[in-house]
Amino acid sequence: MNAIDLDDLKAIEKIDEDGMLKAIEDFPLQCQEAVDLARGLSFDIPSDMRSVVVLGMGGSGIGGDIAKVLLEDELRIPFLVNKGYLLPRFVDDRTLCFAVSYSGNTEETLSGFDQAVERGCPVISITTGGLLGNKAEERSLPIVKIPKGLQPRAALGYLSLPILVVLERMALIGDKGQDIQETLAILDERTKNFSPHKPLSQNEAKMLATRLCGKVPVIYGSDGPTAVAALRWKCQFNENSKVPAFWNVFPELNHNETVGWELLRDITTEHFLLLLLRDAEESERVKKRVEITRSLIEGRFGGASEVWSGGKSRLARTFSLIYLGDFVSFYLAALNGVNPSPVERISVLKRRLSEE
Ligand code: PA5
Repeated sequence: MNAIDLDDLKAIEKIDEDGMLKAIEDFPLQCQEAVDLARGLSFDIPSDMRSVVVLGMGGSGIGGDIAKVLLEDELRIPFLVNKGYLLPRFVDDRTLCFAVSYSGNTEETLSGFDQAVERGCPVISITTGGLLGNKAEERSLPIVKIPKGLQPRAALGYLSLPILVVLERMALIGDKGQDIQETLAILDERTKNFSPHKPLSQNEAKMLATRLCGKVPVIYGSDGPTAVAALRWKCQFNENSKVPAFWNVFPELNHNETVGWELLRDITTEHFLLLLLRDAEESERVKKRVEITRSLIEGRFGGASEVWSGGKSRLARTFSLIYLGDFVSFYLAALNGVNPSPVERISVLKRRLSEE
């Protein structure tokens, strides 16, 4: 099958049957709305919490991963993202718990919610409704009720920013107003720069997708913003573009994975493309590591590209990278001729589990 022309708006529209592009383009608006929703939430939780736990899986759980990265240089209490059925022993009535599930029906998150309630944690739910919404309502617990009709991964603003705003309102972190403004301005600019109306020759997202076509992305980040962005890029390539993708982080990858590219024989390594996510705030040591690693392993790949974050604040740097990845994965879906929205295997798996 011949790949489509990414400047052909009609062809893109035809593949994108369920409107993923619109959800991506509306992301800046969504972020503003998410902040407003959380600012209007009414809750009464003592601010002497000893830890924060976010419960969530997949496209919802990554909201917790992002919040963690955004807060880690500031929050003075431990912050854990729990991706599974069981809560760790330390979680108690002084653990602030966020139960994050777009559908409200994810069984791991519901199991965590039940345990958190049993242990007396203050729990804030972020959801469109579902069983989680019902459970929270029955107990009169606060809910950030977010709009239905999106794929969970396209609701990232709703699923991450309310955590930030709640912690800000509890004075567990400082005022984030300026960072949010900076981020929204950068996202607005990127919406234009990566839009399908911007031709391939001037559009970084289209160019990257073109380089990636037929290749397996291997995405490396380092601490903080680029690490969580690498995870997000990987998940977006999986779910939007329907391709396998791999991610890892510096410095840890230098202690194992760097060696692993040495001896591939039967798999043609030129089918892998190395994507290095970079950030102006990465430390001098990490910078050195990235340079040396690139020189050691680049020859094993079918190409390598560096992608830099934009903006000053952690929030802007993280979201600017994530947003580029969202567009790239969308254009790669178009080049692969697949509708980016449905995630048939996830739906089938959930259905089969519910029948057990
Ligand atoms: O992207 C997806 O569809 C999944 O990763 C879901 O987010 C994940 O299965 C959890 O579902 P939910 O977000 O509804 O809790």
